[in-house]
Amino acid sequence: MSIKEVIASRKTSKVLARSPLEADFDQALLESLVNAAAYAPFHYMAANSHREKLPDKAPEPWRIYILNRTICREVRKWLIGRDDKTKVPEMLAAADMLLQVTWCPTTEDEAAESNRFDRYDATQTNMEHIAATAAAIQNIILAATEHEIPNYWSSGAALREKETFDLLGIPHDEILLGAVFFFPRNVDQNRKVNMFPGKMRERRSFGRTWCHWVEELNVNASDQTTVLNVNTIVRMGRNSKPPLE
Ligand SMILES: Cc1cc2nc3c(=O)[nH]c(=O)nc-3n(C[C@H](O)[C@H](O)[C@H](O)COP(=O)(O)O)c2cc1C
Repeated sequence: MSIKEVIASRKTSKVLARSPLEADFDQALLESLVNAAAYAPFHYMAANSHREKLPDKAPEPWRIYILNRTICREVRKWLIGRDDKTKVPEMLAAADMLLQVTWCPTTEDEAAESNRFDRYDATQTNMEHIAATAAAIQNIILAATEHEIPNYWSSGAALREKETFDLLGIPHDEILLGAVFFFPRNVDQNRKVNMFPGKMRERRSFGRTWCHWVEELNVNASDQTTVLNVNTIVRMGRNSKPPLE
């Protein structure tokens, strides 16, 4: 597949199993997907407080915690023990790997740091840390797509809670951007699972009304009352998949 074909075939696959799957899996291949994150763009270095925790003081603003299939099953049991009623335990029964992908917020007021969890300052630096981390996740799920490994980027539900961070040894000053699940290849042929697509899959517009050519400069912006660049839909074509050759 070309990179554009990989992009166009990426999709969310939520795979649920009531009891743990026994499927074979290729741990080395799954781990190699994580390497794709290493090539994501990033603009700012993580703050020193984050970098100091790593032996090489790496600058990237993301962190990735890799849970193999055995650990996924253990987290499933732990969640069931806590009476978790979400779909997460069923996904952990099906997953071959879970990545807890966090980002490292830069904190303006270090003194306020100790008490906060899952909160960050609305700064451009933090926006770009999140953007870089999202690029890292997208790299990984595109690599999975290339290998036909079903995957699902989720917000995490219980997986983003403090108790889960403690269970997995994730520092409280990091924030989860994605709990990313990877399921066995060809799992769609396994009758023990239920599969669901992403909620937004059928809502994708393809119309590209969100895409505008800038054709005129609004040099006297304060005098201007008309909206420029209104011909977008006509020129882009309406709601058809854009070619990705
Ligand atoms: C940041 C982020 C968080 C997401 N979290 C969830 C989630 O918690 N639950 C969910 O059902 N889908 C989640 N998704 C997946 C979207 O539902 C999915 O991408 C969307 O439905 C479009 O479907 P597609 O990925 O197949 O194109 C998330 C996607 C992103 C980018």
